[in-house]
Amino acid sequence: MSNYTIIVIVAVALVGLAAVMLLGTARRRDRNSAVGQMSRETQQRDAGARLGAKAPETPTGREYERSVALARSGKAEIEPVAAKAPVAYVPPDPETLGVTRRQFLNRSIVGFMVMALSGFGAAVIAFLWPSASGGFGAQITIGSAADVRARIKANNGFLYVPEGRAWVTEYPATAIPKAEAAYPPVLIPIMKAGFTALWQTCPHLGCRVPDCKTSQWFECPCHGSQYNRNGEKKGGPAPRGMDRFPGMLDPKGNLVINTGQIIQGPPIGTNTTGQEAEGPHCIGSAGGHGA
Ligand code: FES
Repeated sequence: MSNYTIIVIVAVALVGLAAVMLLGTARRRDRNSAVGQMSRETQQRDAGARLGAKAPETPTGREYERSVALARSGKAEIEPVAAKAPVAYVPPDPETLGVTRRQFLNRSIVGFMVMALSGFGAAVIAFLWPSASGGFGAQITIGSAADVRARIKANNGFLYVPEGRAWVTEYPATAIPKAEAAYPPVLIPIMKAGFTALWQTCPHLGCRVPDCKTSQWFECPCHGSQYNRNGEKKGGPAPRGMDRFPGMLDPKGNLVINTGQIIQGPPIGTNTTGQEAEGPHCIGSAGGHGA
């Protein structure tokens, strides 16, 4: 046999051996992936259980044979093996089963997300829910028409209603015909009752608009927008008059405003009352940019 032939045989044998090893490794990997392996914790628990297990109380086969032999020889009697009742299976308490680290993390993340979403949802609902106690977003009874009129006079022409974030002023009966032409019908009842209820928020960029006792207008300190006592725009950068609430006198004669319905203010140029400034301005002067 030539050297070349021997080399070929050895090479074929090595290739065959490698193929067998490869096949064996693949089969073992398949079996492991299909059956799975016990975790290290489980293996340690098993080893601990084996170490701590009690020795069997039943005699071994060798002991039993020896006792039979002794019995035959008359030296001792066969000891019957004590019959033991099978122990009933008790399913493990799920709460005592171990939780893996992955399970713990997954449950923690899900729990945290549920709590965060629940808190956010509750806050949104609480924010949007109309107040049952008569706060902003609900119907607010301010008082009898006579009482409201007296309070307006006592405050030099303006009555602030904090729970409604609203200003209430008197509306002249002589301006009603113009109001009916300039305002939506939902606003007419409160004007016919002799009042206007204005939202305190400036329609420019949202500052709270204070009254100006000297000019008898509303004058915004942020950018100088000015509105007459009826919230109609007189100057400044605001895009319209002050937004307002509908209202009416209830059967008992009380003024009720609905702060859950904000009506957009009238467009620039609306001037139903013709009220001009009645004194010095608190902020700049009327007729600024955008007037
Ligand atoms: S927020 Fe009132 S004028 Fe700009």
